[in-house]
Amino acid sequence: MNGAVFDFFSNIPKILVCVPDFCAAKVDFPNGKKEEREHPLFLIPLSHLSLLSHMNLAELRQHYALESLSETDVRPDPVAQFAYWFEEAISSQLLEPNAMTLATATANGRPNARTVLLKDYGSQGFTFFTNYESQKGAELAANPQAALLFTWLELQRQIRIEGRVEKIDTEVSLAYFQSRPRESQIGAWASSQSHVIEGREVLEKREAAMELKFAGLEKLPLPPNWGGYRVIPDAFEFWQGRLSRLHDRILYTREGGEWKIERLAP
Ligand SMILES: Cc1cc2nc3c(=O)[nH]c(=O)nc-3n(C[C@H](O)[C@H](O)[C@H](O)COP(=O)(O)O)c2cc1C
Repeated sequence: MNGAVFDFFSNIPKILVCVPDFCAAKVDFPNGKKEEREHPLFLIPLSHLSLLSHMNLAELRQHYALESLSETDVRPDPVAQFAYWFEEAISSQLLEPNAMTLATATANGRPNARTVLLKDYGSQGFTFFTNYESQKGAELAANPQAALLFTWLELQRQIRIEGRVEKIDTEVSLAYFQSRPRESQIGAWASSQSHVIEGREVLEKREAAMELKFAGLEKLPLPPNWGGYRVIPDAFEFWQGRLSRLHDRILYTREGGEWKIERLAP
């Protein structure tokens, strides 16, 4: 949507809408100007806007026909299956393929979700880094359970992971922290993540103070409230979009030391 305009011909406030996927069209502007546009602009009365957006959302539809997934072809180990799909996500050059939704909940069960970056994975778990005193940190301290969600729309895939969460070793957090660009290290020292601050200048002053404190140091010490968490999975679900909404869903659950593989209805 490109902005609100006033249509002098009808005296009705209208909104200028750009529809990128539309074919090229000639547009007659109210002032008599004509223009050939690849992305035509439409004038729509403001009063119709919510109707329009609902119609468009209801009509948004994708056909899923890229791949299939079967309980007989998947790897017996879900981490190996994750690795296979993750490599494909990387080689498909998706934007931030390691971005995942992390869902946590308070001790009372109130859920919350945000994006974090996967920095390591393997049979020991799925690791991300953050501030231990953030909201997610407080929730994980009270309720050390989490769900992870990878959504790779271009591949018509999603992966859900559930499990308990633990902090990783401080030495591993330190090694990762010091491998980050220096400005990210300063940023972690400067930000009391998830706490209310009075304005951006608070952050900038704190950043300047940290620059002064750590002047000349390329590798900063690990902030005491910063480090990694590992989600240790006990369930994985691999979802592959299929035609007619008959998607493939393969569920792995941990039974004793083994992974049980089942198919879920879409
Ligand atoms: C693409 C992307 C990647 C992010 N990666 C991280 C991350 O690795 N660690 C982190 O603490 N926050 C990351 N964030 C910011 C979080 O989504 C969130 O704003 C922040 O961690 C505070 O969350 P909380 O208040 O629930 O603790 C990322 C955000 C985006 C959009």
